[in-house]
Amino acid sequence: MKKINIAIDGWSSCGKSTMARQLAKALNYIFIDSGAMYRAIALYFIQQKLDLNDHIAIEKALGNISLSFQKNIQTGNNEIWMNGENVEQLIREMEVASKVSAVAAIKAVRAFAVAQQQLIGKNKGVVMDGRDIGTTVFPEAELKIFMTANVDVRVERRFKELSAINPLITTEEVKANLQSRDHLDSTREVSPLKKAEDAVVLDNSELSPEEQFEMALRWANEKINS
Ligand code: DC
Repeated sequence: MKKINIAIDGWSSCGKSTMARQLAKALNYIFIDSGAMYRAIALYFIQQKLDLNDHIAIEKALGNISLSFQKNIQTGNNEIWMNGENVEQLIREMEVASKVSAVAAIKAVRAFAVAQQQLIGKNKGVVMDGRDIGTTVFPEAELKIFMTANVDVRVERRFKELSAINPLITTEEVKANLQSRDHLDSTREVSPLKKAEDAVVLDNSELSPEEQFEMALRWANEKINS
């Protein structure tokens, strides 16, 4: 059967990864959370106390980062490893969330991540979510979905997720972080978050996860069978 690449882009906390993971499972494709790569790079820079304006130090640091995705045999989910360590949980912390957009705006960082993402997708059969997948990483992707949802719905969803890990977190903090990331991601110079011209928009403010998944799976099957 024909294999395609599926690009899922959109605003922060729209449920992109959840839907991408479900689609990949249903189609038996590889799921890649490209945001996890930027988060892992940001984590490394934080650990190394790197100055984000020091371009030479950044180039050097990127040479020391090895990223891979490995399946967690208990959950069946693909998790991100950095330099031999599973960092899937660490990269979700607020400190990383507050720095990642600045890190993801650095040209050398994007070149480093995009090259790896394109390599993963070269044989097709990949569902990748992010901000620039349909515009930059896989401009030839057969199916591009641009996800969006009302900001309060997104804050509520992310708050539920984060408060399970950090009970002290407030909705105000979550909202401020989300809005600042959306602003930085959509206004940066290098491949900003933007809907690809040929992407279909999926506003899930009022859709259940099942409803949106069915819709996306139908679009995917239409492309696979066309
Ligand atoms: O999807 P996420 O929230 O885990 O992404 C973390 C950050 O990485 C987000 O602020 C934007 C950035 N990002 C990006 O610039 N390009 C991508 N393809 C994926 C994420």
